[in-house]
Amino acid sequence: MRMLHLPEPFAGKGGLMMNHFMILALLLPLRTCYTTYSQQESNVFPVTYLNVSKDLDLQRLLVEWDVVKSAHDAELAISFEIQVRRLDEATTVWTEFLNVTLDKLGKPLHWSWDSDIPLECMSHAVRIRSKAKSSKIWSQWSLWETVPGLDTSNRSGPQIFPKEKFLAEGSDITLCCIGGKGQTIKEFSVYPAVDVFKYTNSQVRLLTVENLSHDKGSNIHVYCYDEDERLYQAAFFVGKPPDTPKDFYCQTQDMKRVTCTWTEGETYLYGQNLPRYTLSKTSFFSSQG
Ligand SMILES: *[C@@H]1O[C@H](CO)[C@@H](O)[C@H](O)[C@H]1NC(C)=O
Ligand SMILES: *[C@@H]1O[C@H](CO)[C@@H](O)[C@H](O)[C@H]1NC(C)=O
Ligand SMILES: *[C@@H]1O[C@H](CO)[C@@H](O)[C@H](O)[C@H]1NC(C)=O
Ligand SMILES: *[C@@H]1O[C@H](CO)[C@@H](O)[C@H](O)[C@H]1NC(C)=O
Repeated sequence: MRMLHLPEPFAGKGGLMMNHFMILALLLPLRTCYTTYSQQESNVFPVTYLNVSKDLDLQRLLVEWDVVKSAHDAELAISFEIQVRRLDEATTVWTEFLNVTLDKLGKPLHWSWDSDIPLECMSHAVRIRSKAKSSKIWSQWSLWETVPGLDTSNRSGPQIFPKEKFLAEGSDITLCCIGGKGQTIKEFSVYPAVDVFKYTNSQVRLLTVENLSHDKGSNIHVYCYDEDERLYQAAFFVGKPPDTPKDFYCQTQDMKRVTCTWTEGETYLYGQNLPRYTLSKTSFFSSQG
């Protein structure tokens, strides 16, 4: 309950006059509030456009967004907070702050994010909010912009990701098996058995193999059974990317045939997976002056 203390000359007067004053007295604070609010509001630049796409070869989310043109025109120093969420996991998997100074060219802003699990495995969503450097107030968050994973596709059978077959020794890899539409995955396992983290909802299963090593076998096999006990499998090769050849040496005896030798580092890849080396030929002509 708000108390109104009326000055003596008004308090004594007739009812009509007093009501009028009370309304004014109530409106004034509201008006002040509104003015303060709209001054702060004009310092807030919510995201006006947000587009998220994916580059599956690089397993990268590409984010493009913009704010109003007036912010560009004012060459505003502005911070953005960007969040990435995986649908199914309620938690935000990545938060990043980005400080930029907008320029008059008015081009949209760009940011990219490399995913540690194949983007096919589940849907990813991104949202952004902003704060002018001169202000303390964050804008509202944009809506989440979602890039669907293949768990939302119409496919009937399970699929295993990543499709990449060569994995670098020492790295960590997360694999997933996605069931067909409305289908439950019964089991998803790795052979040889290694330490793994598992994530499960009924349609998507994830396995993380840490610190891949060729000693545990240069082939990793994964097996995925759907609810009808049908088996899907994939094999991965663990190795080292080929080094620059060492002790490279070429010689010729007759100036027609050149014999080159080099030593190559161990890659732990064999047979048809052996690295291929290409010899590139450059001719030198000696000019005599
Ligand atoms: C979003 O970005 C992608 C990749 O740059 C582009 O192909 C697509 O047309 C964009 N979508 C919209 C609605 O602008
Ligand atoms: C970005 O700006 C904020 C203040 O708006 C500051 O606290 C933060 O340290 C800055 N971050 C970077 C990476 O410069
Ligand atoms: C999925 O299937 C339904 C009906 O079978 C079809 O209407 C819809 O367009 C399909 N969606 C996609 C993404 O293929
Ligand atoms: C990864 O495995 C190699 C050999 O298998 C071991 O030498 C190394 O310490 C391991 N690294 C980590 C971080 O566990």
